[in-house]
Amino acid sequence: MLVHEKNKNMIRTSQIPLETKNTDVNLRLSYWITTFGCQMNKADSERMAGILERMGYYAAEEELQADLVLYNTCTIRDNAEQKVYSYLGRQARRKHQLPHLKIIVAGCVAQQEGESLLRRVPELDLVMGPQHANRLETLLTQVDNGQQVVATGDHHIMEDITTARRDSKICGWVNVIYGCNERCTYCVVPSVRGKEQSRTPDSIKNEINKLSDSGYKEVTLLGQNIDAYGRDLESQGDGGSSKINLSYLLNYIHDIKGIERIRFATSHPRYFTDELIQTCSQLPKVCEHFHIPFQSGDNDILKKMARGYTIEQYKNIISRIKILIPKASISADVIVAFPGETESQFENTLSTVEEIEFDQVNTAAYSPRPNTPAANWPNQLSEETKVGRLKQINSLVEKIARKRNNYYLHSTQEILVEGKNKKNNLQLMGRTRTNKLTFFNQSQNPRSQYQPGDIVKVKINEARGFSLTGEAVGSGFISLIN
Ligand code: SAH
Ligand code: SF4
Ligand code: F3S
Repeated sequence: MLVHEKNKNMIRTSQIPLETKNTDVNLRLSYWITTFGCQMNKADSERMAGILERMGYYAAEEELQADLVLYNTCTIRDNAEQKVYSYLGRQARRKHQLPHLKIIVAGCVAQQEGESLLRRVPELDLVMGPQHANRLETLLTQVDNGQQVVATGDHHIMEDITTARRDSKICGWVNVIYGCNERCTYCVVPSVRGKEQSRTPDSIKNEINKLSDSGYKEVTLLGQNIDAYGRDLESQGDGGSSKINLSYLLNYIHDIKGIERIRFATSHPRYFTDELIQTCSQLPKVCEHFHIPFQSGDNDILKKMARGYTIEQYKNIISRIKILIPKASISADVIVAFPGETESQFENTLSTVEEIEFDQVNTAAYSPRPNTPAANWPNQLSEETKVGRLKQINSLVEKIARKRNNYYLHSTQEILVEGKNKKNNLQLMGRTRTNKLTFFNQSQNPRSQYQPGDIVKVKINEARGFSLTGEAVGSGFISLIN
């Protein structure tokens, strides 16, 4: 671990009357966390919020009132990275009026930029990479001692003993593997998230047991390349007979009482096995939704991306899923305008979207990233091509998502209620097992109102591109699309 200590000519937090474990609300300090990027960052933020609350901080109601501001950043594309700088500028100015304010940059930009962030924004107190999320308390102690701290060294991720402060009380993220050992030529993740580190099945099970004790109904197992789970762990059982992989883990956690649904993301086509498809089809709690990015529908581009599969192999995986789990919904990520992508290669991507009929596709125009091979290639495409292709693919994706959602019309779905529809208080919001966002009216009868965590049968009567609406027809059964 690298910790730079620097003298700062600023009044430190430790110089104001701070007793973080103090229960007197007037003396307690507030925090604000803004999270950019993927679910992994969201899960890290929830753990860091848990650490801050254990230290005595409370959640501020507004960003500009908080005593500690933490940006958990993403650098997957340039625009994601730039966003954080505008936020930081605002807080840096605030700090000149409010010297005790602590400003922290965590996550992937922190890892990528390290010490140079301090040069760019000298008001920063702490720069900490994602592998250091669980060490927030220790790092803050160093800040309280008057140091400016940079924690971006390789670090073995310790089990966190803090309870995460989770946004949802129903659906919980559970990290199962950190990092990524792949080397996709466009991607910054391996350099900012480090080598793969799997958590042990027991620590994952313990966390899910605790979630179930607190009333959670759904868990999503997380990893950048979740199919790599267990590769770095010893086998289990007599003489190490049972190989620890994602299928093993799904079986291992399946029967935790109270948890009704299990999801996982993100899957890599290169490692998506028949064993996993079989496992998913056999375990009733594992939901029928798979997020498997394909990135491009063209084999030459896939090769240049170093993805390690062909589009035929990808399509084969989807067919095998559909044979065993016909109602499965499939989502993916795709990059358009990768260096050198021709019009006809782009069309191969469009036709893949059409042929597979994805339920949802996250699209992005290629963005050159630091320390990635593709960023140095001479055949970069113009901004105009990027914007044009993105627009084209987005309208196709939306058309197909709408078509997929239309299949749900008049079917009855099992919806796990997560809360109210934020835009309409009279409606509840939840998801189908296939991960479709669904709204339906709350019961008028106060004695039979549905609560978050209930599983409600909902008959779908309206389908849009990104959501469904229906009416409740009762509670609790296993749904299938008609
Ligand atoms: N681990 C996942 C994805 C991680 S990053 C996988 O292997 O697929 C999330 C998504 O961001 C990627 O799927 C990709 O579509 C997109 N992405 C990553 N790097 C990018 C870049 N340089 N430019 C544009 N999109 C990118
Ligand atoms: Fe990035 Fe590839 Fe790893 Fe996904 S598998 S995180 S795209 S390097
Ligand atoms: Fe972004 Fe880091 Fe996730 S770069 S997508 S927050 S792993």
